[in-house]
Amino acid sequence: MSSTDPADDDSRNESARTKRSQDQGWRPTHAAEASSGVDISIPYSNPPTDRLMAFYAQWAERYDADLIDTYGYMAPSDAVAGLMQLDLPHDAAILDAGCGTGQAGTLLAAAGYNCVDGADLSAEMRAVAARHNVYRDLFEMDMTAPCGPQLAARNGGARYDAVICVGVFGFGPPHVDDLPRIMDAARPGAPVLITVNGKGWDLRGWDDCLMPVLEAAGIRLAARTRIRHMVAEGVHAELLDLRRG
Ligand SMILES: C[S@@+](CC[C@H](N)C(=O)[O-])C[C@H]1O[C@@H](n2cnc3c(N)ncnc32)[C@H](O)[C@@H]1O
Repeated sequence: MSSTDPADDDSRNESARTKRSQDQGWRPTHAAEASSGVDISIPYSNPPTDRLMAFYAQWAERYDADLIDTYGYMAPSDAVAGLMQLDLPHDAAILDAGCGTGQAGTLLAAAGYNCVDGADLSAEMRAVAARHNVYRDLFEMDMTAPCGPQLAARNGGARYDAVICVGVFGFGPPHVDDLPRIMDAARPGAPVLITVNGKGWDLRGWDDCLMPVLEAAGIRLAARTRIRHMVAEGVHAELLDLRRG
């Protein structure tokens, strides 16, 4: 039976308002924009990809300092530690998808992996990554588009032995529906390690949407581990180990 009490209407309206503001995104409490002049809430507001790329173009040079110093960004370190637990040989061909400025690639190189490629849609982020000289190959890839054509000439035309993707998924774009595309970069059965921002996990409903997407695409969730993400914000991430075939 529906209520006619105006107080109930108020409560329903409040609940709808809360839901809408959650859908719009999230804003870190620490303000990196003071030093960088960027609006740090943009990647958490589900922007169109071209707006997201304009944001990263503006942020690229300050990205490492802001994320590490202001936000205590630990996701690359914990995700790379997760990959190292899989005991891949040092000459395994690894793709760092959404490599950004090269934080994960730098950690992989320091751990002795010598066959790591980096891919990212942002030319400005790739330019910063290139300065580290840790990637065998560094190229443009859009994870919201089919990956096959973008990967055809990479890694000698073979699929990768492992893929790592840090700090890209959570709020979107790319969204959960784009996960199957990145699986195409890995050979059958190879680990694809993806971090998902814990705030994004909750606000975008990953509890409900992840498994249907994986099941429809024949992807197995081999492991799910809670890792650190932005420590200064109290935000964790989920590290997913996905396998197909
Ligand atoms: C938060 S940064 C993470 C970068 C790096 N992996 C790290 O952990 O520092 C997100 C990266 O995803 C890239 N990105 C966003 N959308 C993308 C897409 N559709 N395809 C490829 N890269 C994308 C951005 O350019 C940016 O470099």
